[in-house]
Amino acid sequence: MAAIPGTELMAVCDLREHRARITAEKFGAKAHYTDYRKLLERNDLDAVIVATYHPTHASIACEVLRSGRHVLVQKPLATRLEEADKLVKAARSSRCKTMCLPYNWLPAYERAKEIVDSGALGKITLIRSRVAHNGPEKYYASTQALFREEPEECAFFRKEISEGGALFDMGVYAVSAVTGLVGSLVSVTGYVKTLNKPSEVEDTASLIGEMERGGIACMETSWCQVAGQESTAIYGTKGTLYLDVWQGSLSVYLTEPFPGWLKPDVSSAPAQAAHRHFVECILKDLQPRGRPEHARHVVEIMRAGRESEETGKRIALRTKVE
Ligand SMILES: NC(=O)c1ccc[n+]([C@@H]2O[C@H](COP(=O)([O-])OP(=O)(O)OC[C@H]3O[C@@H](n4cnc5c(N)ncnc54)[C@H](O)[C@@H]3O)[C@@H](O)[C@H]2O)c1
Repeated sequence: MAAIPGTELMAVCDLREHRARITAEKFGAKAHYTDYRKLLERNDLDAVIVATYHPTHASIACEVLRSGRHVLVQKPLATRLEEADKLVKAARSSRCKTMCLPYNWLPAYERAKEIVDSGALGKITLIRSRVAHNGPEKYYASTQALFREEPEECAFFRKEISEGGALFDMGVYAVSAVTGLVGSLVSVTGYVKTLNKPSEVEDTASLIGEMERGGIACMETSWCQVAGQESTAIYGTKGTLYLDVWQGSLSVYLTEPFPGWLKPDVSSAPAQAAHRHFVECILKDLQPRGRPEHARHVVEIMRAGRESEETGKRIALRTKVE
């Protein structure tokens, strides 16, 4: 936010005073707090970003909306569906903007979405997306180094704090991309396991869903992937599409009008694309991408994957992308 022209970072809040203070100093905020309700009492704020522990996102975002401020909610929207429901309700009855991450609309994704929506790929029979890395502990250690703290157990591994592991941390990107590209799912089966990390929550997950429009959706994630280049693949009856949102690359095979591979031009993603979009929507009074309804559907899919692991059953879904 501090890097985006037209915005001013006013205040920072963290339960740990030194984290709030160091962040405020580093990015030039005038004040810092340990209680976000005190921060919300300020009368000079237009918008708030919620980037606390996963389970707290939705309830804090509801309070931000109630205080009359726009809100940008970090991923995942919630770890429980009831919390996501509350935010959808609060967003619908508020005049303020609500934007939920992940932000899918980077240039390669937008181009892929246009191609899918044009029907050029024919009937989509299967979409597969995998977003994974080698675990949050190195990243967490770098956060602790930034704040000059003694090493402690990675908060992402503690169930009491995170309520969800790799699926809610990284799988959320795969689930959000899949449902953004091909729409709502109607049911989910999942394998959600802790295989390698010293973690109370899952480090590996594979979900298979059925699309509302027919077709199969495969969504994978892991904290145990040392290297790899998978991303998103879409298989249609008239074409195949490979998309890597992070690398900004897109390859498409179409059977019509002539069979062959295409490499559509994709512009590079602007820095802080999501936050810039949020600011632009506030300034121009536009509806932000990253709708709460979509983020809630993503939460329900992730919850259903876990329930399927626990029960051995396929789980029917009640929410939709819109
Ligand atoms: N979209 C992205 O690229 C991206 C990147 C990093 C993190 N995230 C998300 O942001 C969130 C935070 O990630 P992180 O890596 O900074 O984790 P972290 O554990 O390093 O930091 C979270 C901070 O939130 C504070 N906090 C928790 N509850 C609070 C409350 N009620 N009031 C005030 N402060 C509170 C904690 O004290 C902690 O300092 C996670 O949900 C994560 O998924 C998103």
